[in-house]
Amino acid sequence: MVIIKDILMYCTNLSSTGVFTILAIAAAVYYIIDGIYYPPPNPDVIRFLDSEALPTPMHLGEITADKLKLYDGSDPKKPLLMAVKGQIYDVSQSRTLYGPGGPYALFAGKEASRALAKMCFDEKDLTDDISGLGPFELDSLQDWELKFKNKYVKVGSII
Ligand code: HEM
Repeated sequence: MVIIKDILMYCTNLSSTGVFTILAIAAAVYYIIDGIYYPPPNPDVIRFLDSEALPTPMHLGEITADKLKLYDGSDPKKPLLMAVKGQIYDVSQSRTLYGPGGPYALFAGKEASRALAKMCFDEKDLTDDISGLGPFELDSLQDWELKFKNKYVKVGSII
């Protein structure tokens, strides 16, 4: 950058402030024109297109925790499911989070209440057993349940 500035100062006979001003104006013009031709995608439109691409969530009724494992994202044709407090949610719209390779893939196809309550990724906490949890952990689980209820479609419950 310093070399470019020196070359410009040499070629234009301008002071370093002059060169800096010209570079700043050039950058501003570039970003304005770039913004006109390549406007940032509207998040509402992206959400709409994503939801269009997803099949309507399929209601499963009551299923076992073993059956829930079939919906862990390993079969891309099946919906991605996850259970919180015994209720199963279709989280397919968040495949980047829960799908294979995603940061929360370990929750897919599982009833993960204990892990969510404890904010912990331990394999042993991937269970619906919330016995012995303290009030803060139970509060946190309540918040997670609310989040899932508001964001995802409930498609069944665990027997
Ligand atoms: C360093 C710690 C953590 C950071 C920085 C972090 C960050 C985030 C961010 C940014 C999101 C939103 C992603 C999005 O909507 O695109 C998210 C979602 C989520 N986080 Fe974490 N997280 C952390 C730890 C944890 C832990 C310990 C748990 C539970 C054991 C957890 C569970 C979740 C879940 C389940 C979601 C997805 C919720 C949904 O479906 O909308 N996170 N996290």
